[in-house]
Amino acid sequence: MKPPPKLAKADGKLAVFLPGMGAVASTFIAGVLAARKGIGSPIGSVTQMGTIRLGKRTENRVPLVKDFVPLQDLNAIEFAGWDIFPENAYEIAQNAKVLDREHLEPLKAELEAIKPMKAVFYPQYVKRLHGTHVKTEPTKAAMVEALREDIRNTIKERGCTRAVAVWCGSTETYMEPSPVYDTIESFEKGLLENDDAITSSMIYAWACIKEKVPFANGSPNLCVDIAAVHELARINDVPIAGKDFKTGQTLMKTILAPGLKARLLGIKGWFSTNILGNRDGEVLDDPENFKTKEISKLGALDHILQPKVYPELYGDLYHKVRINYYPPRGDSKEGWDNIDIVGWMGYPMQIKVDFLCRDSILAAPIVLDLALFMDLANRAGFRGVQEWLSFYFKDPMTAKKLYPEHDLFIQSMKLKNTLRWTMGEELITHLGNEYYD
Ligand SMILES: NC(=O)c1ccc[n+]([C@@H]2O[C@H](COP(=O)([O-])OP(=O)(O)OC[C@H]3O[C@@H](n4cnc5c(N)ncnc54)[C@H](O)[C@@H]3O)[C@@H](O)[C@H]2O)c1
Repeated sequence: MKPPPKLAKADGKLAVFLPGMGAVASTFIAGVLAARKGIGSPIGSVTQMGTIRLGKRTENRVPLVKDFVPLQDLNAIEFAGWDIFPENAYEIAQNAKVLDREHLEPLKAELEAIKPMKAVFYPQYVKRLHGTHVKTEPTKAAMVEALREDIRNTIKERGCTRAVAVWCGSTETYMEPSPVYDTIESFEKGLLENDDAITSSMIYAWACIKEKVPFANGSPNLCVDIAAVHELARINDVPIAGKDFKTGQTLMKTILAPGLKARLLGIKGWFSTNILGNRDGEVLDDPENFKTKEISKLGALDHILQPKVYPELYGDLYHKVRINYYPPRGDSKEGWDNIDIVGWMGYPMQIKVDFLCRDSILAAPIVLDLALFMDLANRAGFRGVQEWLSFYFKDPMTAKKLYPEHDLFIQSMKLKNTLRWTMGEELITHLGNEYYD
């Protein structure tokens, strides 16, 4: 095992940059402000509410995660971001209709003070949106420089010592592999030549990594999942993580599928469909944008169930995922799963899940944890892909030769063991035979 890293202290203020300030970003900001005032509980956040067992079960050492690892204090966070619409965070939250008036009113002044900077936006990647609050630099290379200036100015003006970025912007159209993505040189040439393969989100990622700002990607976009970005992150010693926040239906899938597999129950079919009516749903209504999401959603079952290892149980599983834009529901999504399972001697059974979830309520704590853990990773000197944060993603990024780990419980163990290792504590194997003669 590698020796634990040297961890720099979380001194001073942390800037949290949010490229894309919509439902998720505004719910995240409002929730942190509410937690600071003690008027909203950060439920769902491992950094705020999670505990971690240390040593033997007989030792009864179970501190809160935030008391065990030195994380940024919520009171010392500055929020900033970009959007193609100029509304401030209060107006965004009002339009998103995720949080009630009674929760937003006490935060009004603070939310109103958070205004998005002008965005880098090439509409061909998100055709359903038409924003005017955008930069007009002539090349994609110049856009990178403009974003870098925004980052430097914000950090300076707000008196921050460090920064992280979490992409909360829209899902872009599906992008095929391109030679532009292969190396730093090919990507930088593409930026100068306004190459179509370089999307808006990639420009943000490039700018952040150039500024040594860790970047986590909450959408299925490829922005930090191309070779050139991996190389840049390694060279610049910057942590990156992605992709696509694991919330509603995929969260359920990665909770249920490991359980069915552990019991060696076969699965013949898994049909997932849902209705949602927020702006994200509207963007995903475009087949080209849905394709990006579909790919990120489909991978989980295959990796958890290992059909090649268990051909009889999972070899001919039919997996289908549908998203339907249905405005009346707003951010309150309803997701249905029909799972056709097979038991002893091949007898069929069915499981039906009806999850009436709130998308942004599930995503907001993920944004907070990613911001704090990416800052921790940065202070620990971790660079490149942060596989230990797979827990938060639908389609976790890994080193080139590895398959991703989708099982939520393995992901949780990986995360907590990384924290134990970072702090020089013994890892927990759950073997347990030391308690018996
Ligand atoms: N809510 C969830 O549970 C969930 C789960 C997984 C992933 N996601 C992803 O998180 C992202 C945000 O979701 P949301 O519900 O907040 O969506 P949203 O539509 O409310 O917010 C996205 C915001 O990004 C802005 N935007 C688009 N392109 C931009 C650009 N180039 N620069 C700056 N801003 C840009 C849009 O104007 C919008 O305000 C989406 O990509 C979504 O797919 C959300």
